[in-house]
Amino acid sequence: MDEIEKYQKWLDKQNLRRNPFTLEINPSIIVGYKEQITKLLKNINQQQKIILLTGATGSGKTSIVSYLTLTNKDYRVLNKPPREVSKLLNISSYFIKDLPFLAKIFVRKPKKIDDFPDFLNKIIKKPKVLFIDESHEASIEVLEWLRIISDQVQNLTIVFSALPVFNEILSKNLETLKKRIIETVELEALTKEEVEKLIRKRIETAGGTDIKPFTYNIIEYIYSRTGGFPRAVVILCNNLINLGAENEAERVDMNLISKKPPIEREKKLNIENLKDLSSKQRKIINLIAESEPLTPNKLINYFPDYPSEKHGLRAINNLLRRLVKEGYIERERKGKSYYYKLNPSTRTVLVRS
Ligand SMILES: Nc1ncnc2c1ncn2[C@@H]1O[C@H](COP(=O)(O)OP(=O)(O)O)[C@@H](O)[C@H]1O
Ligand SMILES: [Mg+2]
Repeated sequence: MDEIEKYQKWLDKQNLRRNPFTLEINPSIIVGYKEQITKLLKNINQQQKIILLTGATGSGKTSIVSYLTLTNKDYRVLNKPPREVSKLLNISSYFIKDLPFLAKIFVRKPKKIDDFPDFLNKIIKKPKVLFIDESHEASIEVLEWLRIISDQVQNLTIVFSALPVFNEILSKNLETLKKRIIETVELEALTKEEVEKLIRKRIETAGGTDIKPFTYNIIEYIYSRTGGFPRAVVILCNNLINLGAENEAERVDMNLISKKPPIEREKKLNIENLKDLSSKQRKIINLIAESEPLTPNKLINYFPDYPSEKHGLRAINNLLRRLVKEGYIERERKGKSYYYKLNPSTRTVLVRS
């Protein structure tokens, strides 16, 4: 029996039509991020002009944007901003399609970008939202025009979805645009319950039942290894499914892992990687660098924005877990508390940058 056949047979036995853990974007299997979604919708409903959705690669930005655009027909998404200003004119088609039949026929798209804000005001009659994914890839010129459009077009909310580096791009080149960002929504990580839900939803969507072939103790392991970071969860689950199939295991549990740990790619630390971190993660690294070792209870004092200390501690612990997993910091237990300090290579990078 060849490998593929063996794999398929194992899936069949688990009642799975296919591997549930591919990196597809499927808005119907979104879990968690309730607070962040509420915050986004609150600002959208207030018709704020510019909102920023940010988070590292794989934190779930594209997923949330696709989910939201499915829930409301007045939400539109541009999957990637154009590099050239003239291409911005293409956004018109998003709004022209809402016009009454006759208006749609007679409407004349502007040829010049200077006429674009006026034109949009004419065709956008009720509040619309434009999500722009991968906004960090926009050229400065395009961002400049998006700011002008946002200033001049009445019924339009723009939600930039971008990597954390977007903030630096704005600070360096576009202070005026940065000042207009009313709210920043940051995606960090899922809780353990949400990780379990993610796994269950994906397994059920692929035809399986509950979390089978996973067991509850392996969910604990998945959570602690990934810090609840969505893409990392999906990738680790994929590796574990493959491991189960290889071993023709009935259950993917801790026994299977102790036999053969899934290989994780080593992550090299470099300055680019530090830039990929969220602003909170970088803040944590800097705080630890200043006065290591630090406990989560000390760190929380520097993050006054959380609604309660419980919230804050949970969030900080999630951030710390992920930084440990990715090799930026190290954890040490002294008595009842955990102390965090920099990994030597992180220090080298900090000194260089
Ligand atoms: N809230 C979520 N619930 C379930 N799965 C998620 C969630 N967020 C992200 N994922 C999964 O994690 C992976 C990476 O998400 P993605 O939206 O592409 O992240 P980003 O756009 O921030 O890079 C995708 O496979 C997606 O299905
Ligand atoms: Mg994305």
